[in-house]
Amino acid sequence: MLRRSFVAGLGGLWLPSAVRAEVSLAADPFALGVASGRPTPDSVVLWTRLMPAGQFGERLGPAMTVDWAIAEDEAMRRIVQTGQAMAEPDWAHSVHVEVGGLKPGRPYWYRFTVVGKASPVGRTRTAPASTERLQALRFAFASCQQYEQGYYTAFRHMAAEDIAVVVHLGDYIYEMSWGRDLLRRHEGGRATTLDEYRDRYAQYKSDRDLQAAHAAHPWIVTWDDHEVSDDYTDDISPQEPDHARFLAQRAAAYQAYWEHMPLPLSMQPRGPSLHLYDRYRFGDLAEFHVLDDRQYRSHHACRATLQRGKLLTDCAERVDPTRSMLGAAQEAWLAEGLARASTRWTLIAQQTLMAQLDRGDANKPVFWADGWDGYAAPRQRLLDAVAASPVRNTLVLGGDVHSFWAADLKRDFDAPGAPTVATEFVGGSITSQGPAESRVKALVAKNPHIRYARSGHFGYALVALDPKAAHVDFRMVDTVRSEQSGIANGARFAVEAGRPGVVAA
Ligand SMILES: [Fe+2]
Repeated sequence: MLRRSFVAGLGGLWLPSAVRAEVSLAADPFALGVASGRPTPDSVVLWTRLMPAGQFGERLGPAMTVDWAIAEDEAMRRIVQTGQAMAEPDWAHSVHVEVGGLKPGRPYWYRFTVVGKASPVGRTRTAPASTERLQALRFAFASCQQYEQGYYTAFRHMAAEDIAVVVHLGDYIYEMSWGRDLLRRHEGGRATTLDEYRDRYAQYKSDRDLQAAHAAHPWIVTWDDHEVSDDYTDDISPQEPDHARFLAQRAAAYQAYWEHMPLPLSMQPRGPSLHLYDRYRFGDLAEFHVLDDRQYRSHHACRATLQRGKLLTDCAERVDPTRSMLGAAQEAWLAEGLARASTRWTLIAQQTLMAQLDRGDANKPVFWADGWDGYAAPRQRLLDAVAASPVRNTLVLGGDVHSFWAADLKRDFDAPGAPTVATEFVGGSITSQGPAESRVKALVAKNPHIRYARSGHFGYALVALDPKAAHVDFRMVDTVRSEQSGIANGARFAVEAGRPGVVAA
């Protein structure tokens, strides 16, 4: 049972946290589960947040000391390290432990203890040594989990997958309610304050299937817009046009994000800034460049003339070379990383569909303002850097569009026969509702470099890399409207090493 407090006579307003009752940890203090993330060859980050079961929306009191232990076996008999961490009220009693000195490429198990109560045991895994000649790497990637629109059955299945890591591409929470035929409801309305974002994370993370996926695998995370506000760009939100007010909201949202993710202390936000983009290497086989395309991007092109607030028609600003998607520093960092790439596969983990997608009719192109199509020049620079990379095996991983896509990425999408320089896969959504299936089929017919699209199904993507090929399965649950549902491969693709482009497998 969720519990909340109302002020009588004020239309059901939430009480501010300062006057909420302080609660004890007599019940299960680990009601939000445990998680791990940011795997390197010798370290992982362990995470939990103290939150008593059934006390949603309440606040704990002073800082508390939490014990942690990490072991080489599931029964926690061969413990290799222990320590203590502080759960501070200023950081929502979250715990972020960076454990170093671990062995590469092997599983570990961990748990926390506070006031004599032990957490569930989580499993994690370090990355292989960066020089290891790795013969195989399996991972899943996922995005977009609107809580009200379905059950997280896909995460239950993801927990059982044989994978080294989960990559989450954003929309972990939704700050607002939307969609048809809602099955569950958010507590509270649109989140804009620190307490409201914290409560939203607490509600999402109380889901047992999501907890299972966190407890089974380390996660690498980045965000999209709904962790803060729909379609925000840098310091502007369509919902809050006042820059200063929006930056205060962004600071609250970024703080709550850090508090609820397995991120290290070095990524703790400072005001409205959080340095999230990073690289992760898995032996000589794969390197992930994990991007943040929200925090630093230029504002939407031709904002005054957007159709339905989202669609661009004739707009010179769309191709303005001074516009940026990643910000100058991140763009230079990515180009430098691509130029010195040395693993067999390069993975660009980012938020949305990168391939050009003309949504108009024959003579009048129409583009989505918020995606890469609204940032044509920065996309061109990125794909030029990919084409110049010494590694010819770049896979772009995306989310955001609530449907499954496979595409050939080209430096010139409008030239028939232009060479493919990278291969893109968009891994559906966990629950968030997408466009009509007939709509995406029509877009595939109109955009020949788009090789596949499917909507109306939910799940994630599973990637298996080896030195010769990449195999991508689109894993789709039967339904998100039941807490029990099967899962199947809805589509399977391959990419051959050295030959960018989607191959049906
Ligand atoms: Fe989304």
